Amino acid sequence: MPNSNGQIRYAVVGGGWISQGAFMPGVGQTSNSVMTAIVTGDPEKARGLGELYGIKGYDYDEYDALLTSGEIDAVYVATPNFRHREFAEPALKAGIHVLLEKPMAASLADAEAIEAAARASGAKLMVAYRLHCEPGTLAIVEAIRAGEIGTPRFFTATFSQMVKPGNHRALNGYWAGPVPDMGTYPINAVRNFFEAEPIRVMALASRVPERDLGCDDTVSVILTFPEGRSASFTVSYSAESIDRLHVVGSEGIIEAYPAFGFGEGTSIDFRLIGDGETQERKAPVVDHFGGETDYFSDCILNDRQPEPDGEEGVLDMIVLDAIDRSIATGAPQDLAPRSRTRRIDTDQARALPLADVPEFVNTDVPMD
Ligand SMILES: NC(=O)c1ccc[n+]([C@@H]2O[C@H](COP(=O)([O-])OP(=O)(O)OC[C@H]3O[C@@H](n4cnc5c(N)ncnc54)[C@H](OP(=O)(O)O)[C@@H]3O)[C@@H](O)[C@H]2O)c1
Repeated sequence: MPNSNGQIRYAVVGGGWISQGAFMPGVGQTSNSVMTAIVTGDPEKARGLGELYGIKGYDYDEYDALLTSGEIDAVYVATPNFRHREFAEPALKAGIHVLLEKPMAASLADAEAIEAAARASGAKLMVAYRLHCEPGTLAIVEAIRAGEIGTPRFFTATFSQMVKPGNHRALNGYWAGPVPDMGTYPINAVRNFFEAEPIRVMALASRVPERDLGCDDTVSVILTFPEGRSASFTVSYSAESIDRLHVVGSEGIIEAYPAFGFGEGTSIDFRLIGDGETQERKAPVVDHFGGETDYFSDCILNDRQPEPDGEEGVLDMIVLDAIDRSIATGAPQDLAPRSRTRRIDTDQARALPLADVPEFVNTDVPMD
C-alpha cells in the first residue's frame, strides 16, 4: 500500500554509517520511495534524523508496534549483521517488505530462516546488493554475456580498508569480519559473471599483530567452479583502501578499479583488453542506494519479485559458511552442485544522480 503519492513508505532500522551516509540521502533521489520512520536505540539520532528528514523516531522495543502501525510499507535493515534476522523476519511475517543489508545474516541458518519467512509471506525480500542496479557492473555482465572476453576462465579481486579498532565489525567473530563484510562483493560478482555456483572453497586467515583488531583481519580465498573455472580474492580490515577485480577469459580480460565502491567521484568504469587493444568503458557516477531503492519500490508497486532475493543472498551465505569452515579446519570444503533460478536482468540498472550527504548525527565512520 503506497502513500497517496504512489510512494513506498520506508522505516530505516539502525541509524549508523550506511543509513546516514548513503541510504537516507539516496531515498530522496527516487520518486517512488519515501521515509516515514527511523528505528534507533539512540534518542539523539531519533530527534536529529527525525528533524532532518521529517520522520518519526522509534526505539527497538517499539518495532513490533511500528510493523502493525499502518505507517510503513517496507523496512531497510542496516543493523550489524548479527542483528539482521531479529528485524527482517518479524517484518516479513507482518507482511512488511524488507530491503536487507548484506550479508543476509550472521549464520547460514539465520539466512535460511529469513528466506523461508519471505517465501511464506506476501511481502517481498531484497538483499541490498546495490551493484545489481549499478550501470557499470551491469555493463560488465553484458560484455561477458556477449562473449567479449570469450569464455570466462578465472577471476581475481582485492578489497581492503582500514577498519577502526572498537567497531562492531572487528569484535564479533568471523560473521562480522572482512569475509562476510567485504568478501560478499567478490563472491557475488564472480557468481554472476560466471553464472555458476562454486563447488570447492579454500581459505586462509591471518592477523596483523600490531593492529590487534579482535578478528582475523586479512583473508585469502580460492573458489573452484564447474568447467575448470576458478576465482580468488583477498580481503582485509588492515590495509590501505583498494577495490579491484579482473575477469580473465579465453579471448580477453576485463579489469575494473574501483570495482565495489560508491560515492563522490566513484564510477565503475572498466577496461576491456582483447585482440591487442584496450577499450575504456565508462560508467556514470550514480547514487547506488537511491538506485536499489527505486528498483525495490518498483518491484513492490508492480508486484514483481526482486532479482537479488533470498535465494541470491543464501547462495552467497553458503559460500561464506564454507569459508568459515575452511578457515577453522585448514581444509578445502566441497559444496554440492547448485544452480540459481534466475540471474541479473540488465534492465535493473538505475542512473539516479548522487545525493548530497548531510552531517552525521551522533555517528562515526567505521574506517580510518
Ligand atoms: N551496501 C553497502 O555498501 C554497505 C556498506 C556498509 C555497510 N553495509 C551493511 O550495513 C549494515 C550496517 O553497517 P554500518 O556500516 O552502517 O554500521 P554502523 O555504522 O556501525 O551502524 C550500525 C547501526 O546499527 C545500530 N545498532 C543496533 N544494535 C547495535 C549493536 N549491538 N552494535 C552496534 N550498532 C548497533 C546502531 O544504530 P542506532 O544507534 O541508530 O541504534 C548503529 O549505528 C551491516 O550489515 C553492513 O554489512 C552495507
